[in-house]
Amino acid sequence: MGFGKGYGKVILFNEHFVVHGVPAIASAIGLTTDAEVVRHSGKGIELIDNRKGTKGYSKEKMEHQKEALRRVMDYLGFDVEKNPIRITLGGNLPTFSGIGASAANLVAIVRALNDEFKLGLSDEEVNNAAYEGEKAFAGTPSGIDNTAATFGGLIWFKRGEKNIIERLQIKKPVEIVMGNTGVVANTKEVVAGVRERKEKYPEKYNKIFKEAEELVYEAREALLKYDLKRVGELMNENHKQLQAIEVDGKELNFLVELARDNGALGAKLTGGGVGGCMVALTPGKELQEKVASAMEKEGFQALRTVVG
Ligand code: MEV
Repeated sequence: MGFGKGYGKVILFNEHFVVHGVPAIASAIGLTTDAEVVRHSGKGIELIDNRKGTKGYSKEKMEHQKEALRRVMDYLGFDVEKNPIRITLGGNLPTFSGIGASAANLVAIVRALNDEFKLGLSDEEVNNAAYEGEKAFAGTPSGIDNTAATFGGLIWFKRGEKNIIERLQIKKPVEIVMGNTGVVANTKEVVAGVRERKEKYPEKYNKIFKEAEELVYEAREALLKYDLKRVGELMNENHKQLQAIEVDGKELNFLVELARDNGALGAKLTGGGVGGCMVALTPGKELQEKVASAMEKEGFQALRTVVG
């Protein structure tokens, strides 16, 4: 029996922009998807999904998941007809959209496979294999989700011929709340939509992309200085930029407003957008609790965690 884990993540700045080479900042969160791989006597891959989360998520994503596993196995040159396996997924990372559940699950599976079949994969190779699988979920993924899922920590990420990945060290971890709209989003379609609009309205989109690029350098400085007030303001700005490229949604905007009204230093959508999750910066347990319970009172699920 082989085991593996992959971290969930939150994107603090520049989802979507990152697909087109603009730097972004993401952090792993302290919740993981766990995978167990056993050899069995059946055929191919049998998948048992015990993850908890948004209703309908696993069903909605089943086709993407099957394609992702095919891609990962092809990439690794792993023949599941010769080596039939049963994969069981669990762990404490909920299957919300926007929380990196697809990348975490792929990293966990590759690690479990590595463990059971002694494939000798390095972290780098695990990350690359998960990236191949991510294509099934996100079309043209930037690689930020699988990188956070593999390595953990707070990271600066820039997609390129060779991705730039830097670990950012901040003074101490800071509390956040992730609010779940409960809407399962199709990341692949949302990413493709941005690309289409960017091609159709180059002037408008290039301007927003440039602003997002400037913003993320400032956000990096603010994080390193631990100027959380400024980090929050920049998150609010980033949310506006994401609205301008039309990846927001009614429930997301509602939760973002609610978090700010309850004292969050900043709030924005996180991940693929449209549905899925938002993130609020809520330093200190008290503020975190206030914002999270305000969301719960409105009937939404709220995750209390830290970044950094
Ligand atoms: C999804 O978590 C983040 C996106 O930027 C897609 C990607 O970077 O692959 C929307």
